[in-house]
Amino acid sequence: MLNSIIRATSFVHHVLKGMIHEGDVVVDATMGNGNDTIFLAERVGPGGSVFSFDIQQIALDRTLKKIIDNKLDEYNIKLINDGHENIEGYLTDTIDAAMFNLGYLPGGDHSITTKPDSTIGGIKSVLRLLKPKGVASIIIYYGHEGGVNEKQKVLGFLEKLSGKNFSVMKCCYINQGNNPPIIIFIQRN
Ligand SMILES: C[S@@+](CC[C@H](N)C(=O)[O-])C[C@H]1O[C@@H](n2cnc3c(N)ncnc32)[C@H](O)[C@@H]1O
Repeated sequence: MLNSIIRATSFVHHVLKGMIHEGDVVVDATMGNGNDTIFLAERVGPGGSVFSFDIQQIALDRTLKKIIDNKLDEYNIKLINDGHENIEGYLTDTIDAAMFNLGYLPGGDHSITTKPDSTIGGIKSVLRLLKPKGVASIIIYYGHEGGVNEKQKVLGFLEKLSGKNFSVMKCCYINQGNNPPIIIFIQRN
């Protein structure tokens, strides 16, 4: 069930729930406070693998605490202190799903944000690794400095993806102010 107010993060979890299965190999490309890492770990179970990336050590610390609090420390979750543009240095096997949540770390330093070139680099890596029918989600937050530029570059890149190889869907609020988030789903055909 969705919450009564449709939040972008709950909506993405709601959609991905039906597409990620026990034993899957998945990526959290922007670990942050670990909410998506926990969601992914609960979906793939102890037989699956979660690879989570963030450039800030504080994100790894907060996520590790959440993993322990949720009693998931026996699960196969790798917390990697590196950028998602380097995903292929850690993963060579194909993946079933990946999640991106762009912008800054909530409750952290708002001047450290995702950036267009590394974000597109990370998306390209994920698309190369994605299995047929595999899915990637991207929530684009763009209210911060440089956010509009990143949004435009990411959308520009995705619009040019071959429709033969990938289906790309954009979901957005049409009546909310304050730069409401944009949600993207990409599935390999
Ligand atoms: C909006 S937050 C992610 C929220 C997170 N998904 C959660 O569940 O709490 C964005 C995160 O992306 C991280 N980030 C910025 N550039 C990155 C990069 N090149 N690779 C991986 N993470 C990056 C930031 O440090 C920040 O923690």
